[in-house]
Amino acid sequence: MSHRGRFIVLEGIDGCGKTTQLEALRDWLPDSGLLPPGAKVITTREPGGTPFGHALRDLLLHPPAGQSPCWGAELLLYLADRAQHVAERVAPSLAAGHWVLSDRYHGSTLAYQGHGRGHPLELLGALHRFAANGLQPDLTLWLDVPLAEAMARLRHRAQDRIETEGEAFLSRVYYGFRRLAEGPGWRRVNGVGGPDLVTGRCKDQILDWF
Ligand code: TYD
Repeated sequence: MSHRGRFIVLEGIDGCGKTTQLEALRDWLPDSGLLPPGAKVITTREPGGTPFGHALRDLLLHPPAGQSPCWGAELLLYLADRAQHVAERVAPSLAAGHWVLSDRYHGSTLAYQGHGRGHPLELLGALHRFAANGLQPDLTLWLDVPLAEAMARLRHRAQDRIETEGEAFLSRVYYGFRRLAEGPGWRRVNGVGGPDLVTGRCKDQILDWF
């Protein structure tokens, strides 16, 4: 295959249902008529889309007790995960003509480390250009679930370091996503409702974009 594949990313706050939607879209895409012959759907995620990244994910989300990274270290570890992910998995898959579906990408860095932690967005853009050679998704779907509902969903499961940051932090992240989703290449999907309903909305956005 000579054509570059497509790169679709799902973004949103913790508890927004991205992972469920990613699985539904992975099952639907091969029969959607969108993929050229021979193209496969590759699903992946950040952090942790490669074996090396998996170790970084553990360090980031479940650090040894009392050993949380400072904000600078946190940012650089997410970027290290991205560099490995793009080099080892995303770029080669796209070059081979496959479609890549990723659970989180640069949008999460902008929302969590930018809007959440307060790192300047220009700095994050420069770091992304370095780590990922500036690779941008073709389409980013933001699953919009209000913070109160997402937090209620999280209460029913074990939480990681970021999820326990507290409401003020997660609220900044939520509004960060809201701003980002107004930009080019992003689409907002109403994430409230049963999983099938939300999957239908994601499909509509993908078909409309395509
Ligand atoms: P996620 O895989 O969605 O967690 P879970 O599988 O438990 O739902 O995301 C891991 C966490 O990492 C999430 O809280 C968001 C955070 N994150 C950042 O802060 N910056 C980033 O650049 C990325 C990719 C994720």
